[in-house]
Amino acid sequence: MRYALISDIHANLPALESVLADARARGAETILHLGDLVGYAPWPDEVVATLAEAGIAGVAGNYDSTVAMDHDNCGCAYEDARQAELAHVGYEWTRANIRPETKRALGDLPFRLDVSPDGGHKSGPRLVLVHGTPTLNTLYWHADRPDAFCLQMARFAGLKAGDVIAFGHTHLPWNREVEGIHFVNTGSVGRPKDGDWRAGYVMLSLGGGKAELEHVRVEYDVERAAVAIFGSELPDEFAEVLRTGGRVRVAAS
Ligand SMILES: [Fe+2]
Repeated sequence: MRYALISDIHANLPALESVLADARARGAETILHLGDLVGYAPWPDEVVATLAEAGIAGVAGNYDSTVAMDHDNCGCAYEDARQAELAHVGYEWTRANIRPETKRALGDLPFRLDVSPDGGHKSGPRLVLVHGTPTLNTLYWHADRPDAFCLQMARFAGLKAGDVIAFGHTHLPWNREVEGIHFVNTGSVGRPKDGDWRAGYVMLSLGGGKAELEHVRVEYDVERAAVAIFGSELPDEFAEVLRTGGRVRVAAS
């Protein structure tokens, strides 16, 4: 089975549209999302509706659950007080502008999704999707986590050799194989932070005893997103984050 794994869209409709077109052109049979559908860009309703219309299932990101549950913050970590302040403006904008049915759809997302490409009547391989880690959707699983951390998470998730666990949340793509288990951070569709502005996702071929994955980057109409952000009450700085792939440093003010 050929999967496209898409994460951290963050209400960026132009990025999502380009990724879906690219994944279909590459022969994706099933597209799955790994959460953080909303926040930071002005299309939360449109992104959730697009996924629903396309039958794309997935899991709850921290942003999705906090918006759905009316938490007072998104459970995100920031490098400084100014970024935290801007992010909170974006969070409150999303809460104030999202449709009730979108909010319900976010609240209905499961924490984890298990997929068995061989139909489940064989013992593996399995694809497990979470947003952050199998224990918490707010925990950041960066590339510098040691193998011991990966294996601890694999044990918690009940994984064995040949299985794949995919996650997002950091907006920084990486992958590693430890004791035959594949760990893959898919990066971010709608708000990459690795200095590459292009939308990121993963193509994964799984089944018949093998797993092959590829990190894909796709150009999209980032200026359409920037103009829409400028025309909304979201902080203008969010447009620069998109244009620079997260490398912009927001000046204190
Ligand atoms: Fe995110």
